[in-house]
Amino acid sequence: MDVEQVLHMNGGNGETSYAKNSTVQSNVISIAKSVTDEALQKLMSNTVMGSIGIADLGCSSGPNSLLPVSNIIDTIHAMCRDANTPMPELRVSLNDLPTNDFNYIFGSLSEFHDKLKRGKGSGFGPCFVSAVAGSFYGRLFPRRSLHFVHSSSSLHWLSQVPTDLGNKNGTEAITNKGKLYISKTSPQSVLKAYAFQFHNDFFEFLRSRSEELVPGGRMVLSFMGRNTSDPTAEESGWELMAQALMDMAKEGIIEEEKIDTFNAPYYAPWSEEVKMEVETEGSFAIDRLETMEIDWEGFVVEKSYKNKSESEAFSSGRRVANTVRAVVESMLQSHFGGNVMDELFQRFGGIVGDYIYKRTARFCNITLSLVRKA
Ligand SMILES: C[S@@+](CC[C@H](N)C(=O)[O-])C[C@H]1O[C@@H](n2cnc3c(N)ncnc32)[C@H](O)[C@@H]1O
Repeated sequence: MDVEQVLHMNGGNGETSYAKNSTVQSNVISIAKSVTDEALQKLMSNTVMGSIGIADLGCSSGPNSLLPVSNIIDTIHAMCRDANTPMPELRVSLNDLPTNDFNYIFGSLSEFHDKLKRGKGSGFGPCFVSAVAGSFYGRLFPRRSLHFVHSSSSLHWLSQVPTDLGNKNGTEAITNKGKLYISKTSPQSVLKAYAFQFHNDFFEFLRSRSEELVPGGRMVLSFMGRNTSDPTAEESGWELMAQALMDMAKEGIIEEEKIDTFNAPYYAPWSEEVKMEVETEGSFAIDRLETMEIDWEGFVVEKSYKNKSESEAFSSGRRVANTVRAVVESMLQSHFGGNVMDELFQRFGGIVGDYIYKRTARFCNITLSLVRKA
C-alpha cells in the first residue's frame, strides 16, 4: 500500500465526509488544549517575539483543520494583551499528505481571517496561513523556521505498512490471518514488525522536527497509544472491523485472502516506547507525557462511567462507524473495492453497537509536550 497516495480522510462536506464526522477528534483537540496552552506560555515567557512560526501537522480537512490554530492564536493574543506586549507576526503552516482536500481549507480561510479581525480588532495581525503538502516523516520546513508544532490524532498513522507483512512476493512474508492489525492471534513476528516500523517512523519524525524548530521551540503531540506494554491487551476497533469483513467473506461477498493481505499502516505505541524513542533521538526534552482513557465517541472515561442502554449503544455504534468510515474508507476501498463499503460500515456499526452495549469501548490517548534542546 502506498500510504501517501491511499490514506486520506473523506473530503468535501457530504454525509460520509471527515468534515461532518470528526467530533471525536475535535474533542481530543480540546482535551489536550491545557497542555498546548501551558507549552505556549513557557515558549513565550520573558521573550518578546517579532514573528512566530507555527505548524499543525496532519491538519486534514473540515472544521478541525483550523481549530488548533485558532486556539493557539487565542492563547498568544491573550498572553500579549495581559503582558501589554505587541502581538508577533504569525506564520501558520497547515500540513497534510498531498491527497488531502486542501481546497476545503482554502475555502474557509476568508471566514477564518474575518473571525480573527472581528474577535481581536482590525489592528490584529498579520497572520499568514499557508499549506504544506508532504509526509511529516521527513523534512517539511526550512531549518530553524518554527517555534511551535502541534499535531493531533495523526501520529498513530505509520509511513507504510510494516515491511514483509502480507507481502506475498517475499519469501519472508508474514501473514496475520483474518486480522487487519495486531491481535491476540497474531504471531510475534507481526508484533515485532509493527513496533519496528513505529521506532523508525517516530525517530524520523523527531529528527526532521529537530532541524526545523528553533532551540527552545516546543511541540505538543497528541495521538492514539496504549497504557500497557502488551499490544494485544485491549481489543482495538480493527478487531471489530476484521470481524465484519470475515462475516462478509463467509457469505462470499469478499475473498478471505483479501483480509489476510490487508494490514493497517497504524500503530498505537506504549507510552514507554514513546519516551524511549524521544530519549534515543536525543534532540528533545520531555516536559509532559500524559495518557488518558477516552471512549469511542471522544469523551474522557470517568470512573463513574455507566454502560449504555441497548438502543443508546446501537446509535452510538452507528456514530462510531461514521467516524471510522470518514478516516479509513479510502484505504479499505482501494483494497476491498468501493462497492462493498456501505455494507461493510453498516455491519461494522452493528458489531460496534453490540460491543459498546457489553463494555466501555475505550482507547488510550497520549499527549506529549516536548522542548527542543539548545
Ligand atoms: C484523523 S486525521 C486528524 C486530523 C486533525 N488533526 C484532527 O484532529 O481532526 C489524521 C490526519 O493525519 C494525516 N496524516 C497521516 N499520515 C501523515 C503523514 N505521514 N504526513 C502528514 N499527514 C499525515 C492524514 O492524512 C489525516 O488527514
